Amino acid sequence: MTSADSKVVPGLEGIVVAETRLSHVDGAAGRLVIAGADVEDLASRGVPFEDVAARLWRGDGPAVDVDAVREALGRARGAAYAMLPSIGSALDAPDAMDALRGAVAQLREPSPSSSLPRWAGAALVTGAVAIFATAWARRRQSAEPVAPDPSLSHAADYLRMLRGRPASSREVSALDAYFVTVVDHGLNASTFAARVVASTGSDLVSAVTAALGALKGPLHGGAPGPVLDMLDAIGRASQAREWIDAELNAGRRIMGMGHRVYRTRDPRAAVLEGALGRLRETLGRDEEVRPPLGESGGTGAGRVSARLELARAVEREATALLGARHADRALRANVEFYTAVLLEAIGVPRELFTATFAASRVAGWAAHVDEQRRTGRLIRPASVYVGAMPELRS
Ligand code: COA
Repeated sequence: MTSADSKVVPGLEGIVVAETRLSHVDGAAGRLVIAGADVEDLASRGVPFEDVAARLWRGDGPAVDVDAVREALGRARGAAYAMLPSIGSALDAPDAMDALRGAVAQLREPSPSSSLPRWAGAALVTGAVAIFATAWARRRQSAEPVAPDPSLSHAADYLRMLRGRPASSREVSALDAYFVTVVDHGLNASTFAARVVASTGSDLVSAVTAALGALKGPLHGGAPGPVLDMLDAIGRASQAREWIDAELNAGRRIMGMGHRVYRTRDPRAAVLEGALGRLRETLGRDEEVRPPLGESGGTGAGRVSARLELARAVEREATALLGARHADRALRANVEFYTAVLLEAIGVPRELFTATFAASRVAGWAAHVDEQRRTGRLIRPASVYVGAMPELRS
């Protein structure tokens, strides 16, 4: 194919390669539907992560029992925890996503058998990511990994394994709201990576490993840590405008702003901002959410309030400055903006933000792999050759 024959779409925008029942992203209206429900509805009703995973994993089959999902996730966390002594140096990697990739690559997808539900592999990888992520964070602090408690919800156990002590119900609700909000999002880059791998007939673990690699990048799941770095660097609302202007003048992007699909504010930003507001209201005035693993600083009501107000001010200034520079392109807050503030408020260390994103999104990846296997086709786009051509052979 030559450039004369075809229009190159390097970001694949507008190219439709799949039909999906899993989630719907309406970028013009700023609407996100996950497994048949609006994301705002799922989060405001406090629907737990297990419930949404069950809806995603049913595929085209009968409804999946939520208690069965909860039990399977508990068993999967136990199985991954049992792997830790033999996992080698994977969790020594200085970057959480590198560690996850190395550890997840050692899983084996269960072979299809009549005794296992179709979604057994999805539960296996989802349980494992929670174990590997929290064990990695503890190892960074020279702390032993914490054994999972299968009686707990996935979100409650995630926070408990991270800190070595149970989390309060309000913190668990906040993490559940986060997990539900980010579990699936159309054909984002990591989900597409998983589907490309699945489309070749490869296995679920290979697909998830590829997806982890895609999620790691700062243009995708790697943004929330830098969002917090930005809030730290700005420090006070009064300095936001000057700081952002200087970044833009230097040609740098403002993390947590802009989206490939949304031409409105990302609806997930509002959902997470709302969850933060609820967390702040329920924290007692003097109550401290103690930071995990020896980090300094607390996340009591006062600190959560201060962070939230600073974030809102930075978002206002960033929206105005980006709007002035890109009148033709709405660059508004995306999901990562308030992810950073929410995860910090519940004591997740910033180097674990992207891995915590993966702890939820892996459930979506697995559902897409199943869907791709059932309905998809080998994904194989084309390129235009612009290199040197040899002489035509006679
Ligand atoms: N800060 C500053 N400028 C931005 C910007 C941001 N966050 N996002 C987009 N732009 C600018 C681009 O520089 C480009 O300007 P130009 O036309 O003068 O070159 C213009 O807006 C269009 O951007 P484009 O690269 O076409 O957008 P995209 O669809 O490829 O990008 C993102 C989408 C998410 C990659 C992009 O908005 C971004 O990098 N955001 C910051 C990282 C982030 O928050 N990632 C998490 C996504 S959920």
